[in-house]
Amino acid sequence: MPTPHIEAEHAQIAPVVLMPGDPLRAQVIAETYLENVIQFNTVRNMFGYTGTYKGKAISVMGSGMGMPSIGIYSYELFKFYDVETIVRIGSCGAYTKDLDLYDVILATGAYSESSFADTQAGQALGDILYPNAEVNKILEDAANDLKIPLKKGIIHSSDVFYRENFNDYERIFQEKNAIAVEMESFALFHNANVLGKKAACLLTVSDSLVTHAATTSEERQNAFTQMMEVALSLAV
Ligand code: HPA
Repeated sequence: MPTPHIEAEHAQIAPVVLMPGDPLRAQVIAETYLENVIQFNTVRNMFGYTGTYKGKAISVMGSGMGMPSIGIYSYELFKFYDVETIVRIGSCGAYTKDLDLYDVILATGAYSESSFADTQAGQALGDILYPNAEVNKILEDAANDLKIPLKKGIIHSSDVFYRENFNDYERIFQEKNAIAVEMESFALFHNANVLGKKAACLLTVSDSLVTHAATTSEERQNAFTQMMEVALSLAV
């Protein structure tokens, strides 16, 4: 049965879905890494694909930017398509000089000042939400096998990209130990928690709030390839 935002038939979506923010990125991933690809969603151009990786099924779909957007898509995938695991594969801005551009990060928690979880569930669930430990272990083991270094830490899921006071990141780094900022994982982890599902998040560092360095899209490709190889280990 289609949902308001996804037109797929139930059987067209695999139990594991990788979610980049950009739907065109989902298309490139499907074309580059998957075989036997079908496209299962074009609603709002939020493209989604299912294929096989080394003979095992996996889906990839754009999440859009921000918690309201990934909140909608991840909820529908978990609840109405019986998806078991969603891994966000995105980019982030570094909050510490200990992170370099292109580093690959595995989130160990997502801090947010967002009201998403309170509004969705009607109660305070804390301002740091956690990914699934089992999935994180699989991703870590895959990275080890592939000899891809992973940095681990809490990330900040922000509702705001353009802040009037950019230096506020220093406070969040100090108080919450958040090493980098993105805009989606807190909502993804929350939806997985309330629906009894699994979620995780891999990020590559695309810019730094400390040094103001930023990558070009071409430069991002290599780090992105490494992150993809780790994420694809979840094909089942
Ligand atoms: N802020 C929020 N999200 C991001 C950033 C950032 O600086 N870089 C990549 N995703």
